[in-house]
Amino acid sequence: TESFPIRVTMDELKKHNTKKDAWSVFNGIVYNITPYLPYHPGGPDELMRVAGRDGTKLFMLTHSWVNIDHMLQECMVGMLVKG
Ligand code: HEM
Repeated sequence: TESFPIRVTMDELKKHNTKKDAWSVFNGIVYNITPYLPYHPGGPDELMRVAGRDGTKLFMLTHSWVNIDHMLQECMVGMLVKG
């Protein structure tokens, strides 16, 4: 069995940068954004800009009022760790 929360390094995060396998980080939490791509009101391409990287800044610039923890609860992968 695996432990939760799953620890994700930046090296691991970077590998998930395609539409079929896209992860991103918001406020230290790693999400699988692939299932949400077709539903994003700003379009999939805008969302793909943060695939494989930390999306916190862009997210805060575009819509800081959106409750991402709530919306992407089911898509949570784990937490970003150093190393
Ligand atoms: C709109 C969710 C990431 C760009 C929206 C809206 C939601 C949403 C709910 C509608 C907001 C409203 O009308 O008040 C999310 C979630 C994200 C995410 C859950 C993270 C997984 C991003 C990122 C960008 C972005 C990283 C930019 C690179 C936009 C833009 C709109 C938008 C430009 C406005 C679309 C329009 O009104 O025409 N997003 N978003 N989003 N989002 Fe995102």
